Amino acid sequence: MASASLYPCLVFLAVLACSAATAASHSQCLDNPPDLTAGGDQAGAVVHDLAGFRAYVTGAVHSEKAIVLASDVYGFEVPLFRKIADKVGEAGYYVVVPDLFNGQPYIDGVGNFTEWLQAHSPVKAAQDAKPIFAALKMGQKYVVGVGGYCWGGKVAVEVAKTNEVEAVVISHPYAISIDDMKEIKNPIEILGAHNDTATPPKQVYRLVHTLRQRSVIPYYAKIFPRVSHGFAIRYNVTNPFEVKSAEQALALMLDWFHRYLK
Ligand SMILES: *[C@@H]1O[C@H](CO)[C@@H](O)[C@H](O)[C@H]1NC(C)=O
Ligand SMILES: *[C@@H]1O[C@H](CO)[C@@H](O)[C@H](O)[C@H]1NC(C)=O
Ligand SMILES: *[C@@H]1O[C@H](CO)[C@@H](O)[C@H](O)[C@H]1NC(C)=O
Repeated sequence: MASASLYPCLVFLAVLACSAATAASHSQCLDNPPDLTAGGDQAGAVVHDLAGFRAYVTGAVHSEKAIVLASDVYGFEVPLFRKIADKVGEAGYYVVVPDLFNGQPYIDGVGNFTEWLQAHSPVKAAQDAKPIFAALKMGQKYVVGVGGYCWGGKVAVEVAKTNEVEAVVISHPYAISIDDMKEIKNPIEILGAHNDTATPPKQVYRLVHTLRQRSVIPYYAKIFPRVSHGFAIRYNVTNPFEVKSAEQALALMLDWFHRYLK
């Protein structure tokens, strides 16, 4: 009996070790690369100097609330990502999707991802993005939230350590630590995927445990079943289950902003 119950545990550990060893050469952050040619109607437009950044802007410019969406490594030009931005806009927000890569997103199959990541630190990107948040808080005086995906999830968490925003949502985030959860100042929603090796469910539980212990930061977390890292923005549009999971993630993000952007 003892060995029978031990066995699955060993298998589980082996799987974890394997995913860690292959993380650099094959990251789930790169799985299901987006179709950049998908095209389709876009409700918004690209502006060329939003506090020094190019940005896709969409939604209700006269809203009192703005959402900054921080992209994954594939950047702000991905049609499906812009479609999600449009949907956030339809919910009544002014939406800004900045090009945090200065025209150099990761391009599938091109270049060395490890080196690209070294040159594009999300921590530095959050620092560099400060003028965007300052601009949103001046002029129109928006109440601001950030929705971050994968790489952009780390950007969102860095921003949540400041007073620049009121709430954040991170979907299948990348590189989020326990210490991050100790430092954030804003309500946070974490949307993870059951089959995510970048931020596996185990890591989400650890993050939640830290937030629960702090007991001052409102939080919510959900692990979506039967989906992988990237499920909220790089889903298969012809697979009903994947579409439904992504729609649920979007709905939960909107609920969070509805509740905490006051
Ligand atoms: C990518 O770059 C890293 C760091 O410079 C290097 O260690 C690694 O061997 C490179 N990988 C490939 C496939 O070239
Ligand atoms: C889980 O992720 C791995 C690694 O990316 C992938 O090979 C596998 O097909 C995924 N399984 C499911 C059910 O999505
Ligand atoms: C997308 O989903 C459809 C329906 O489940 C499937 O037939 C197709 O192979 C999937 N495409 C990819 C690229 O996984």
